[in-house]
Amino acid sequence: MESARITIFDTSLRDGEQSPGCSMNVQEKVRLARQLDRLGVDVIEAGFPIASDGDFSAVQAVAAAVPRPVIAALARAARHDLERAARALEAAVRPRLHVFLATSDIHLQHKLRISRAQCIDQAADSVRLARTYADDVEFSPEDATRTEPEFLFQVLEAVIQAGATTLNIPDTVGYTVPSEFGELIRNLRERVPGIENVVISAHCHNDLGLAVANSLAAVAGGARQVECTINGIGERAGNASLEEIVMALRVRTDRFPYCTAVQTEELYPTSQMLEEITGIPVQPNKAIIGRNAFAHEAGIHQDGMLKNRLTYEIMTPQSVGVPDSKLVLGKHSGRHALSLRCEQLGYHFERRALDEIYRQFVVLADQIKHVHDHHLLRLIRETCAESPAAPGQVEPGQAAAQAAAAGDSSPQSLPAAPEDFSVVGLRSVHGSETLSEQEDYLWGV
Ligand code: KIV
Ligand code: ZN
Repeated sequence: MESARITIFDTSLRDGEQSPGCSMNVQEKVRLARQLDRLGVDVIEAGFPIASDGDFSAVQAVAAAVPRPVIAALARAARHDLERAARALEAAVRPRLHVFLATSDIHLQHKLRISRAQCIDQAADSVRLARTYADDVEFSPEDATRTEPEFLFQVLEAVIQAGATTLNIPDTVGYTVPSEFGELIRNLRERVPGIENVVISAHCHNDLGLAVANSLAAVAGGARQVECTINGIGERAGNASLEEIVMALRVRTDRFPYCTAVQTEELYPTSQMLEEITGIPVQPNKAIIGRNAFAHEAGIHQDGMLKNRLTYEIMTPQSVGVPDSKLVLGKHSGRHALSLRCEQLGYHFERRALDEIYRQFVVLADQIKHVHDHHLLRLIRETCAESPAAPGQVEPGQAAAQAAAAGDSSPQSLPAAPEDFSVVGLRSVHGSETLSEQEDYLWGV
């Protein structure tokens, strides 16, 4: 049986751009939109045309440059906003108008200063107007998760009758939790007349760090579109991260029998491009695309990785477009990875010599945070000088060693490109020959 398809709605160019420091000019938006197209997202929300002339032009340019995906433009529930959004989308092959109006009492009373009855009328009137410009109209009740459920159901019923084709449920302030959000989606499906004819969407913010978990709970509850951003950029703590949602769906098909059209190998290139455009660095431990997402430092983990990558990796780095995993040499590393890096630098040591190098290495790694190849080479030379006839030491690969000692870290001279640390390249790994299974495990501790 074909698994249900989840529509991936990328809002990096709109909600993502609302993140401090993430604003993009027209050229940058078009460049990222083309990459989002390569990534295979279904919908690109290109901007909020009423917000500025730049945003208007960006939506126009994206609509003209990227014909395959649906191109969405955001508008408040007001005539002028809708007219402007519709004009910006004129060149789009598949335009979508995305109308929003807050529905929580907090927003109605303090921000909009309208009654619930006025809210229902304004929402329905705007959707009706939007339908005169586009067949594809999405409605978002802003702050839905803090809206009284019975009132939310009434608003949704009214906008369905007015012609909305997608109902997006925003957790605008990142307040909900997975069990509650999943239940809300299930309740909508039971309680809102006509909802079976529209697509339910989830739009989660990350204020409590739950945006991805909430989005997945929504999918399990019946949502068939998720709104998300590359690198999780967005207002305040950000939006649900696209790469995390897509890979959770892909890795855990046993729990989430759904598919997306995303080419996952494009996730890392897309993340890198966004980082380059905005200058906002991705946190190193960010799931899927952070620089440590496939880096292993602990000896036990490195040993496991060298024996079988399944021990510590639940997806391959290549499946998300990362070139390879890394074993980083640091104070938690073990002999297995150390001996391998020595070999890649041109030195093969037998057991006793390796023990000595390892002892010295741990002392050094305890003192300095980052062990580079040149530290390792100096340590090797010093250890070898103290016991020149170290049993089992094999002739070093002089060219590689000299190049590394001289600070030449180009890939031609070394098997793995060194970074901030000495990194063991996994491509050249053939498995360990000298260390017994259990002993190596214990040494790794
Ligand atoms: O978070 C939010 O409520 C929004 C809406 C405009 C969809 O971004
Ligand atoms: Zn939002």
